[in-house]
Amino acid sequence: MSSTSLRGKSAIITGATSGIGLATARLMAERGAKLCLADINEAGLQQVADELKSEGAEVVHCMVDVASEDSNQQMADCALEAFGQIDIAHLNAGILVTKPILECDLETWQRVINVNLNGVFLGIRSCAPDMVKRGSGSIVVTASVSGILGNKSMPSYTASKHGAVGLVKAASAELGESGVRVNAVCPGATYTQMMINSGLSIADVNNSEVAQMTVLGRVAEPREIGEMVCFLASDAASYMTGGIYPVDGGMTAVGRKPI
Ligand code: NAI
Repeated sequence: MSSTSLRGKSAIITGATSGIGLATARLMAERGAKLCLADINEAGLQQVADELKSEGAEVVHCMVDVASEDSNQQMADCALEAFGQIDIAHLNAGILVTKPILECDLETWQRVINVNLNGVFLGIRSCAPDMVKRGSGSIVVTASVSGILGNKSMPSYTASKHGAVGLVKAASAELGESGVRVNAVCPGATYTQMMINSGLSIADVNNSEVAQMTVLGRVAEPREIGEMVCFLASDAASYMTGGIYPVDGGMTAVGRKPI
């Protein structure tokens, strides 16, 4: 069996009904993982679970608000009840608000921090105990290039993602002693629901300033981020922990003018 195989591993994915989480769920299912899909979108969960089950995957799903402690615990319990253990946690759910500091009210700020940063903290708190008990596991957090770079249009998002990156480093130090790996993937602009909602086709986006900030001259497909998540989740990444990995078409390497 290839070391990138996920056969027999049980994985929780938050934000699993759309974009990067959905692409990762499909890839993990293809690689043999048993999945606990978690999302705030209940209808979407049923639809994705049905799709993956029809292709032969072993799937359970649970509605979760990652900003809620109880909800995170229910998510971990759901996976433990179904599969007996949690090998992988892809803590991916996130929201984006574009409001400059001087226009950003405290409530908006707190909502973004609650989902994007507190959600990762609570996800680790709920999933890691089983991993620590068994002495193995892989946690992969979806951060962002906004966890590496500053930009002027999304301060709450940028702060939340920098926080998530710091938390990944701290968690890797704490959990590494117990054989649990923790890494962050930092996507650049990726063609997901956020961009689809804005009415832009992928061709429009690839002609935009965001794409021109990359070396490859285009935005990512969600699957291209999911590939990295699957790699970090797998035994092939057995010596990788505490890493902050850009998957950004070269955006952070060349330092072109941030938006
Ligand atoms: P998306 O909007 O397609 O998917 C986000 C998913 O998270 C949705 O299924 C949504 O229902 C779920 N979600 C939102 N709030 C939730 C909550 N409180 N509890 C549980 N689930 C919740 O967005 P996308 O792009 O797939 O985002 C996934 C992650 O990737 C996010 O953390 C985002 O910040 C990050 N990211 C996205 C980039 C992009 O350009 N699309 C770039 C860099 C990072």
